[in-house]
Amino acid sequence: MFKHRRTKIRWILVIGFTVIVGAFVIYKIECLNDFNKTSLVDYKFPSKSLLSYMGNTTESLRKHLTSSVSVPKHITKSLKQLGKMDEVNKHFLFLNSVPKSGSEILVFLLERIQGENNFKHVRLKGGNKRKLNKIQQEEMVEEIYDIRRNMAIPLSFDRTVYFINFTSFDRQLPIYFNLIRHPITKVMTRALLTKTGTYDSYFIRCLLDAKRNCNFKNGRPYDLTIPYFCGHDPRCMLLNDNWAFEKAKSNVEKYYQVVGVLEEMNITLQVLETKIPQFFSGVKSTYQRNLLENYKNKKDPDIPEEIEISLRKTLVKEMEFYYWIKNRLLSQANKT
Ligand SMILES: *[C@@H]1O[C@H](CO)[C@@H](O)[C@H](O)[C@H]1NC(C)=O
Ligand SMILES: *[C@@H]1O[C@H](CO)[C@@H](O)[C@H](O)[C@H]1NC(C)=O
Ligand SMILES: *[C@@H]1O[C@H](CO)[C@@H](O)[C@H](O)[C@H]1NC(C)=O
Repeated sequence: MFKHRRTKIRWILVIGFTVIVGAFVIYKIECLNDFNKTSLVDYKFPSKSLLSYMGNTTESLRKHLTSSVSVPKHITKSLKQLGKMDEVNKHFLFLNSVPKSGSEILVFLLERIQGENNFKHVRLKGGNKRKLNKIQQEEMVEEIYDIRRNMAIPLSFDRTVYFINFTSFDRQLPIYFNLIRHPITKVMTRALLTKTGTYDSYFIRCLLDAKRNCNFKNGRPYDLTIPYFCGHDPRCMLLNDNWAFEKAKSNVEKYYQVVGVLEEMNITLQVLETKIPQFFSGVKSTYQRNLLENYKNKKDPDIPEEIEISLRKTLVKEMEFYYWIKNRLLSQANKT
């Protein structure tokens, strides 16, 4: 009798303990979910230099975001609902930004118009690593898909990373878009001294001296513009590599609805607005209201002629790619 009661008490204790542990685990999972959601709202803003023009927009933007984004909880779309794998999903936008090419302007604009156009912009971390191995690529694709499942609203993403083929991970393709810049002015931003607004004379001399390491050499790997469209194959980074150049062009044709050109910002925004209205409707007037004044009088110093000649000779494929993109953009603009 006595022994029987002890077993009973033991059972009650075991059940009680299980219930408490279970409740604790569920509570922790909830906390984790909430944490993921708030960390999305609390994302980083574009570079200070750009935002410092805007007075206190950052703060008001953040306030607007935290108050207006009502995240539907626990709506998990099945893969079937997300659509077919090999189709481009028109509610999923991806900017794999090229550094030093003005993409912070696009990020700023996306953050500005997300409210009106009922989407949300997410800045992905890890942009200092642009070339990823297969596993890292898959991790990025999965990270994006987790966010999409949790948010269940149209999303745009940006990260500095080379082109990723979502289809090779059995995932639907986003609408890719990007912004590039003239290859010579892009290289020269590295030599620009912000304090004086002039080019670093040491860098200039170094660029012109073939014996030193500043100038570009054929067949060596560089983080220029073509790899961002070509992808993660080691050949993509090689200077003036024809395979990389062709691959970049074919990826643009297949996957990029718009690739803008910083020197043609008005046309870029016009094409974005007509080609991808679900995200960019109204972007042109937002730009004119908020940013135009800041860029009107901004001009980089003239590039010394011998530097220009020298870079034109070495950055052959980069130049060809730039003009190819610019022509594509202008012909898109003429068709609208
Ligand atoms: C700063 O933001 C507040 C609202 O958050 C706004 O009322 C005020 O006009 C803003 N100031 C400037 C200079 O933009
Ligand atoms: C992307 O991946 C799919 C599936 O593996 C493949 O069929 C397609 O050719 C790839 N595209 C590129 C540009 O590599
Ligand atoms: C872009 O458009 C704005 C407003 O229409 C105009 O003031 C500006 O000069 C244009 N910029 C260029 C480079 O055409």
